[in-house]
Amino acid sequence: MCSFVNFNINGYHYKLPVIYGTFCDKAINISQLRENTGFITFDPGFKNTGITKSSISFIDGEKGELLYRGYPIEQIINKCSFIETSYLILNGELPDTAQLKYFSEKIKKLNHIHVKINQILDQIPNSYHPMGILSYLTYILDTFINSLEEKEEEMYLHLLAKLPMLAALTYRKKIGLPPLPTYADYHLDYISNLLKMFFSIPNKSYKQNPIIVDALNKVLILHADHEQNCSTTTVRLLGSAHAGLFSSISAGMSALWGKLHGGANQAVIEMLENILKSGGNIKKWIEKAKNKKDPFRLMGFGHRIYKNFDPRARIAKKVAENVIQKLGISDPIFELAKNIEENALKDSYFVEKKLYPNIDFYSGIIYQAIGIPKDMFTVMFALGRLSGWIAHWKEMKFNREPIARPRQIYIGYKKRNIEN
Ligand code: SDX
Repeated sequence: MCSFVNFNINGYHYKLPVIYGTFCDKAINISQLRENTGFITFDPGFKNTGITKSSISFIDGEKGELLYRGYPIEQIINKCSFIETSYLILNGELPDTAQLKYFSEKIKKLNHIHVKINQILDQIPNSYHPMGILSYLTYILDTFINSLEEKEEEMYLHLLAKLPMLAALTYRKKIGLPPLPTYADYHLDYISNLLKMFFSIPNKSYKQNPIIVDALNKVLILHADHEQNCSTTTVRLLGSAHAGLFSSISAGMSALWGKLHGGANQAVIEMLENILKSGGNIKKWIEKAKNKKDPFRLMGFGHRIYKNFDPRARIAKKVAENVIQKLGISDPIFELAKNIEENALKDSYFVEKKLYPNIDFYSGIIYQAIGIPKDMFTVMFALGRLSGWIAHWKEMKFNREPIARPRQIYIGYKKRNIEN
C-alpha cells in the first residue's frame, strides 16, 4: 500500500501522505496542500472529503453494509435492544449485565423534566412543527440541569433520559393530551417507557403491546448512527467551535429536519398518500421522478454513500411487514411502496444511477403502523440518532479537533472603491 501520492503542478513535483482506514477507505492527507502548492481542493457537499477519523460506524456503500463499532447491523437488530445499542455506540463495547443495569437505571433516574419546560411548551403555538419544538426544548434543556456540578458523562445520560420525555410532551401537546407526570415508570424498559409517555391517557391503565415495543426497538436501532451524515457533521462542526453539547445536538436536529435528510421519512408518506390519492399510477410518478424538468423526486430513494441496497431499508421493510401483519392492519400505503420499489428497481434510470430505497422509504410506514403521526417521524429519527450524535461529539472532543473552518473559491467583485 503506498504511503504517499506523487503529483506534478506546473512542472513542480509534490507528494502528500496517504491515510488508510480499517477497511477499504483511504485518503490523501491534504492538510499541507495549500502551504505546499498554493492550491485548495473544491468539493461541494463534501462528496469526496473526509473531515475526521472515526471508529463509531462504518458504511460500505458498494456492498450495502453498515457496522456499529464493528458489529453488522443485521446482527445487532436480532441480538440487541435499542438501549444496548445506544450503550455500544456511546462506549464502544456492548454492555455486560451490570453495565446495562447501571446505564438503564441511571437513565430512568434522570428522566424527570423541570416543570418550567411544560410552562414553556404551553407558550409555543400548536402550529409549530414538532422538530422545531424538540430542537428548541433541547437547546434550553441544559438551563434546567445544573451542569456545573454534573460530570460530562452525566450530561450524555441526561440527554438520553430526557429526550424521550421532550418528544412525548411535544406529541401530547400537539394532540391535546395533558402532559404526563414528569418521570419514567421504573418497572419499564426504555422503549416501553417511551411508548407509555407518548400514549398513556389519564384514568386508563396503559397496556404495552409487545409487537409495538419490538418494532420501535428495531426501527430506532436502525437510526443509531451513520458516519458523517449531514446532521452528525453539524454536531461535530458546532462542537469544534466549543459550542455547548445541548446546543450542538439542537443544531443537529435542525439539520436532520431537512427534507433531503431526516425529514424524508415524512415526505415519503406524504408522497405515497399523494400518489394513492391521484389514482396510484406508479409508472406516471416514476417518469416524473426521472424527468429533469420536473422538481418531483422519489423520496426515500437514493443515497450519497449507498450505491447498493441500504441494509437498513431491507430490515425496515421486514419490520414493517411483520408489524402490519401482526397488528392485523391493511395498509395500502405499504403495498404501494413495495410496488414502487419493484417498478423503480426494474427501470434503467434508477439502476444506472444506483438509486435504491434508503431507510426513510419504509421507516415512516413502521411509525404509522404503531400510531406515531407523520409530523413526529423525524422526531423519532432524532431519538434513534441521539447516541450517535453524542458519540461523535465525544470523539470530536477526544480528538481535540481544530475549529471547522473550510475555505472557498471567491468569485465576487474585484477590489473597488466606494464612489464619493
Ligand atoms: C438520509 O447521509 C446519510 O447517511 C443520511 C441518512 C442517515 O442515516 O443519516 O442515511 C438519512 O438522509 C437518507 C436520505 C433521505 N433523503 C431522501 O430520500 C430524499 C430523496 N433522495 C435524494 O434527494 C438524494 O438521493 C440524496 C439527497 C439522498 C442523495 O443526494 P446526492 O448524493 O447529492 O445525489 P444527487 O442528488 O447528486 O443525485 C445523483 C443523481 C442525480 O441525477 P443526475 O443529475 O446525475 O442526472 O441521481 C438523481 C439526481 O437527480 N437522483 C434522483 C433521486 N436521488 C438522486 N432522481 C430521482 N429521485 C431521487 N430520489
